[in-house]
Amino acid sequence: MPDEFTVTPWEVRGQVDYDRLVTQFGTERITPPLLDRIQKAAGELHPMLRRGVFYSHRDLNWILDEHSKGTPWALYTGRGPSSGIHIGHMLPWFFTKWLQDRFGATLYFQITDDEKFLFKDFEDLGQATKVGYENILDIIAMGFDPKRTRIFLDTEYIHHLYPIAVEVAKRITFSTTQAVFGFEKANNVGEIFYTSIQAVPCFLPTAEAGREVPVLIPCGIDQDPHFRIARDVAPRIGYPKPALIHNKLLPSLLGPGGKMSASVPESSIFTTDSLKDAKKKISNAFTGGRATVEEQRRLGADPTFCSVFAFYNFVFEPDDRHLAEVERTCRSGERLCGDCKLELWGKVEGFLRRHKEAREKAKDRVEDFLVRD
Ligand code: TRP
Repeated sequence: MPDEFTVTPWEVRGQVDYDRLVTQFGTERITPPLLDRIQKAAGELHPMLRRGVFYSHRDLNWILDEHSKGTPWALYTGRGPSSGIHIGHMLPWFFTKWLQDRFGATLYFQITDDEKFLFKDFEDLGQATKVGYENILDIIAMGFDPKRTRIFLDTEYIHHLYPIAVEVAKRITFSTTQAVFGFEKANNVGEIFYTSIQAVPCFLPTAEAGREVPVLIPCGIDQDPHFRIARDVAPRIGYPKPALIHNKLLPSLLGPGGKMSASVPESSIFTTDSLKDAKKKISNAFTGGRATVEEQRRLGADPTFCSVFAFYNFVFEPDDRHLAEVERTCRSGERLCGDCKLELWGKVEGFLRRHKEAREKAKDRVEDFLVRD
């Protein structure tokens, strides 16, 4: 069946119907009136909001209400360190950086080395922690404010996390994890427990402050199931429910079906790719072009499922007018895929050069961001 797809925190497969996910997961769409509210509060709208990349939420109005009352609130996001970082991983980070700049919120950034060990990405836990440290360089390179950002690895911050994790774990039954994640008897008990750990930073800001601190979680929609559970548990353990804002997943460079995957290097651009490899990935990317130049000039191309256009739209072309021009000339046949890829490469190359430089500098700044037990 062409319309079959799967979205879980561990697997994304098929052509995702994002509208159906909103219904399935029970989230809310970001509507034009809500966008207006965000624009008024932030002074501008991030391109990912204007274009519906961030398109779904839970309780975002509550965060804006509290913000307008002057209540300090916190941001929470995270990274499961399974591999190097690609552009798809960075979507929520770009947006979180914008939120931190615009609202001055403190960011809690969880690195779940435990998760990636438990879910079998690694034979050895130390390997997951090591990849976590590599990923932290990319996070710091995003430009977060060190005074307002706390990054922690689960295995190194567990003393702070554990008291809340046990409160959460006591309120989650095995049958809930079966219903939400499809866990079975053969899953190891660490996997079954893990959601309790990912829930902790939803409540940590309140626990630390000793008063209610609203928390907003920018994340891929695939992470929502964890937070559905966290929100269920929250009132039972005396914490406010975290709010969420969800992004669609960046399509693979290889074409429709599935998000970018670290196990398929050609599917995305990694921050550690050489410029040469990155350029090659873009020149080999799947497009909405025609079989021949002649046909494309005559009939035009289709940006709908084009991975190159998705890269413009999601990240690399913040200017709406130029994006519309790219789309128009694509459809009319004035623009050929080769030129379009070359123009995109110019943008990606600039980004990669800057990011790689910032990532190098981050090596001396890890201690400015990291919190440990
Ligand atoms: N489970 C996430 C992953 O595999 C990592 C993560 C932990 C996270 N806490 C989060 C992601 C909060 C988004 C928001 O990448």
